[in-house]
Amino acid sequence: MARRLVCICNFVEEKEIVDLLKKGANTTEDIQGISRAGTTCGRCLPEIDQIVGEFKKTEPKDPQKKLDFGLQ
Ligand code: FES
Repeated sequence: MARRLVCICNFVEEKEIVDLLKKGANTTEDIQGISRAGTTCGRCLPEIDQIVGEFKKTEPKDPQKKLDFGLQ
């Protein structure tokens, strides 16, 4: 996947968002809370919504998956 900056305000790339989704983030709000993407001007929120929506369509749902962002 080519590097693509989604949130200019907070320097969050598409790959970071997809990685968070793979780790268990499930909504745009999850992405905002973890990465701060979309929390400044909000202009990138439609694009984050789109990335989340596309991920949910393609990624099989694992009900056992727990949020794990390595935060301790
Ligand atoms: S571009 Fe993402 S909050 Fe401004």
